Amino acid sequence: MSAVCIEFKPGLEGIPATQSSISYVDGQQGILEYRGTNIEELAKKSSFLETAYLLIWGNLPSKEELDSFQEDIRYHRRIKYRIRDMMKCFPETGHPMDALQASAAALGLFYSRRALDNPEYIRFAVVRLLAKIPTMVAAFQLMRKGNDPVQPRDDLDYAANFLYMLNEKEPDPLAAKVFDVCLTLHAEHTINASTFSAMVTASTLTDPYAVIASAVGTLAGPLHGGANEDVITMLSEIGSVENVRPYLEKCLETKAKIMGFGHRVYKVKDPRAIILQEIAVELFEKFGYDKYYEIALEMEKAVEEKLGHRGIYPNVDFYSGLVYRKLGIPSDLFTPVFAIARVAGWLAHWKEQLAANRIFRPTQIYTGEHNVYYTPIQER
Ligand code: CMC
Repeated sequence: MSAVCIEFKPGLEGIPATQSSISYVDGQQGILEYRGTNIEELAKKSSFLETAYLLIWGNLPSKEELDSFQEDIRYHRRIKYRIRDMMKCFPETGHPMDALQASAAALGLFYSRRALDNPEYIRFAVVRLLAKIPTMVAAFQLMRKGNDPVQPRDDLDYAANFLYMLNEKEPDPLAAKVFDVCLTLHAEHTINASTFSAMVTASTLTDPYAVIASAVGTLAGPLHGGANEDVITMLSEIGSVENVRPYLEKCLETKAKIMGFGHRVYKVKDPRAIILQEIAVELFEKFGYDKYYEIALEMEKAVEEKLGHRGIYPNVDFYSGLVYRKLGIPSDLFTPVFAIARVAGWLAHWKEQLAANRIFRPTQIYTGEHNVYYTPIQER
């Protein structure tokens, strides 16, 4: 086929990059399934670690399998003192996503054997990454404030332990439950930018720590996972319900993107945003309302009036920040928290990629010149 016959799709929109049985999205009907099970059902009935097991190993675990998976993760939560010391040298003004990317990559220095055909190596890479990423996020948060990191607590489950390590106090049971649901909702979402990045890196047969570090770097951008932090900045800039419509008009005039709205696949309200809004309200009822919620509701209404006909509705990032704020999570940790959850999906895709690997090597349409004369420097 000659190059001119190849159709170029910016952002590879609509081009299948893989065959996958991990998750499914119907963007017209607002359906998201993990391994065939609806996200609403998993959010209500499962837990993050059970869902991670489902995504990564392809089936729901038996009671024994889940107990042993949770136990392994509990055992591996601590991070090596050298990683902690390395993180202490990071500038406290640096973004926590950069700290996380560097720390995830550094894990590869300790577990560098690339035994990708050894099921035990795969199992422990999965366990280590799920176990250590939350500890690293919490450790950076405490160390940038000048405090020592808090050791994980074996008597707390995954979500409660993270909130404990972050806030240095045991969380309220509702807060821990809600955080676990947030992790479940963010665990996987088909071939988005960071997952694709993970798959490309995986396809070179490098180690899983490099795979996750590369995905973390991709998630950090404001068009992807970074939008949750920008939503709170936007709500704070708007400041009051009365300012919502003038703010929106200005965005429309200047063609600025409204953070937390729009999606490449969903053309209706993201099903995860619906659940996140419900749990935000649950938290507000117990711990008091957040002033930004009224602004967010008005923003949703106004955007729907202006852009709903173009399929622009709230995405997962619109309400997640309101939930995280109520859980005491600082806004620049929203994206690292997204990463804690998405490690499950990235690892599932890493395993799927290895099972039928071919290195990614797409083509391009060359738009440059040919046979250009080399101009000596004196003549330029
Ligand atoms: N505000 C205003 N206009 C928008 C928005 C928005 N949030 N989203 C899309 N549009 C418009 C866009 O201007 C474009 O208009 P036109 O055709 O006139 O140029 C049209 O809709 C298509 O937008 P696009 O940016 O070409 O669509 P895309 O599929 O490439 O991008 C997106 C999807 C999520 C990057 C985009 O909707 C966006 O930038 N949203 C704001 C950032 C955001 O909330 N990101 C989180 C995404 S969901 C979670 C995740 O991926 O991590």
